[in-house]
Amino acid sequence: MEQVQNPGFSLGARLSLCAEMVRSGARLADIGTDHGYLPIWLFLQGRITKAIAADVREGPLQAAKQNIERWKAENGVSTRLSDGLKSILPQEAEDIVIAGMGGELIARIIQEASWLKQGEKRLILQPMTCQTQLRKFLAEEGFAILKEKAVQEPPRVYTVILAAYDPQNVLQFPGWEEIGGLTGETPAERCYLLKRAASLRKQANGLRLAGKEQEAKDLEETIQILCAKAENSGKDEDR
Ligand SMILES: C[S@@+](CC[C@H](N)C(=O)[O-])C[C@H]1O[C@@H](n2cnc3c(N)ncnc32)[C@H](O)[C@@H]1O
Repeated sequence: MEQVQNPGFSLGARLSLCAEMVRSGARLADIGTDHGYLPIWLFLQGRITKAIAADVREGPLQAAKQNIERWKAENGVSTRLSDGLKSILPQEAEDIVIAGMGGELIARIIQEASWLKQGEKRLILQPMTCQTQLRKFLAEEGFAILKEKAVQEPPRVYTVILAAYDPQNVLQFPGWEEIGGLTGETPAERCYLLKRAASLRKQANGLRLAGKEQEAKDLEETIQILCAKAENSGKDEDR
């Protein structure tokens, strides 16, 4: 593969983290590609051999096409109109990125492509919302979280999940639905965990006001787990 050290543009922190999780030499399907920057950048870097930049709407696909031409990536990156993975064949991609969409839509797209459970497929998922529901869905469907990292693009903090079908290794520990594969080792991960704890605290207060004491207590246990993860990992780093 031809190596281009400086493709002429850079990805933001969020898409860079997605790019980092794509395997070298993989054939990629970027679902909901919009501008197409992620597959173009990976191809220009020589990190992937082929990519399909897919989107359900013509407008984004046109933008992706223009960018592919602009950056001369036609030999590696093609566009495709596709609702989720419906127009992608299993043999066309090993690594599948689904980024910048809500967690529920990501789950729907995965559910509609049963072939993701075959072979050595990897999913790189960057949900904008409903991260907890997405982790629960992955576990129910037998997808293990191999890695998860968070990244800050102020004012937001994003999480990126690397998953593969492996029912024996789905996460199982107290608070796993909220923590996923995060270790709390970086400031971004601690920020994510503490933000999530603050959001759950609001929910717990609401439950208490509604007289749902037991549900509030259950949520507070999860909040404590999140805070402990964030604070203990932070101490490790300070030593
Ligand atoms: C916010 S953009 C994210 C672009 C890029 N993936 C990123 O993370 O920067 C979401 C894109 O997903 C596309 N999209 C929404 N639903 C989709 C579906 N069911 N299948 C494929 N693409 C979809 C939209 O058309 C839009 O271009």
